Amino acid sequence: MLQKLLHDNILVTGGAGFIGSHLVDKLIDKNHKVIVIDDLSSGYKRNVNRKARLIKCDLREYKCVDSIIRRTKPKIIFHLAANAAENKAQFSPIDITTRNYNSFLNVLVAGLKNSMKRIVITSSIAVYGSKQIPFSENDKPEPEDLYGLSKLEMEETLKILSKVHKFEYVITRPHNVYGPRQNMKDPYRNVVVLFMNAVLKGEPYYIYGNGGQRRCFSYISDVVEAIYKCGFLNVSGKIFNIGSDKSYNINELSKEIQRITNVKIKPKHLPLRPQEILLAISDHTLSKKYLKYKDQTSLSVGIKKTWEYAKKIGYQKPVFGGIELDSPLLPKNWKN
Ligand SMILES: NC(=O)c1ccc[n+]([C@@H]2O[C@H](COP(=O)([O-])OP(=O)(O)OC[C@H]3O[C@@H](n4cnc5c(N)ncnc54)[C@H](O)[C@@H]3O)[C@@H](O)[C@H]2O)c1
Repeated sequence: MLQKLLHDNILVTGGAGFIGSHLVDKLIDKNHKVIVIDDLSSGYKRNVNRKARLIKCDLREYKCVDSIIRRTKPKIIFHLAANAAENKAQFSPIDITTRNYNSFLNVLVAGLKNSMKRIVITSSIAVYGSKQIPFSENDKPEPEDLYGLSKLEMEETLKILSKVHKFEYVITRPHNVYGPRQNMKDPYRNVVVLFMNAVLKGEPYYIYGNGGQRRCFSYISDVVEAIYKCGFLNVSGKIFNIGSDKSYNINELSKEIQRITNVKIKPKHLPLRPQEILLAISDHTLSKKYLKYKDQTSLSVGIKKTWEYAKKIGYQKPVFGGIELDSPLLPKNWKN
């Protein structure tokens, strides 16, 4: 199958973003022809491999999506484009829903009307909400924020439409991915580079609550390897948690970043963000079994590599905006 597919275009939406651009590199390394659709709302042209073809388009515009898919006829689509600001979602419900759900639907429908055989999506562990840890793919999803809800809607749509229209799909639920090319200008997400950006400026960064929130920080190259395999292995219809088994709380992450950057800063504390999940730890038995997922990069190695990148890019002035609903619960450092 792989050999035959080398002549076909593969579409990566969101391929100018963090995870998408690393996936594009992986596909190009494996000699695939890659088309990228991205509106560059949070991604960058500089992230996109020169051997890929970048087409700028807002996926919320069906006509644009359909015309690209009709012309390029991808058999496999990796759909990564999204607004992934989980904690901001409660203050930007329209943007999160249209960028995540409507865009996905446009890609899926245009794909089905044309050439698509398989779609791989990046959902999220946000679909679990605050279920008992570790989160298993068999758990009934109960998202507690609009980001998780938009991802769950995508998942359910795939399940329903695949019964009627007979196509292959794979759902990935990556877990707190970090590494080079994460958007350092985004003040609402990407905690690893958010802290590093403050360190570069010599300013304190903010920790919400007491910093006891637990996450499994997962290094980009480990995660991308597994997402890549979802395009080609015999895993259609499956759901995979993808990420590290080892969890750290935000205070531990903060200490590790200070140790590696060799900068001592006393973080400032703010109240927890509304709907924030305190414990997120997922089970990775299935991705290890089917995708041979390996947790190869320790937090300290991953942080070192990300810090090298952050220093090279240099301090980035945060870009605020897109708050549709103000509220007394809006974190005060988001008011710009
Ligand atoms: N980073 C993580 O820890 C993580 C964890 C779980 C799931 N995910 C999912 O993985 C995917 C990639 O996340 P990321 O961290 O690389 O985010 P990112 O913001 O770096 O990448 C998203 C890309 O989508 C593009 N995009 C957004 N809206 C678009 C639109 N309407 N039309 C065209 N392009 C559009 C952006 O410009 C950007 O390049 C997302 O679906 C996200 O929800 C990420």
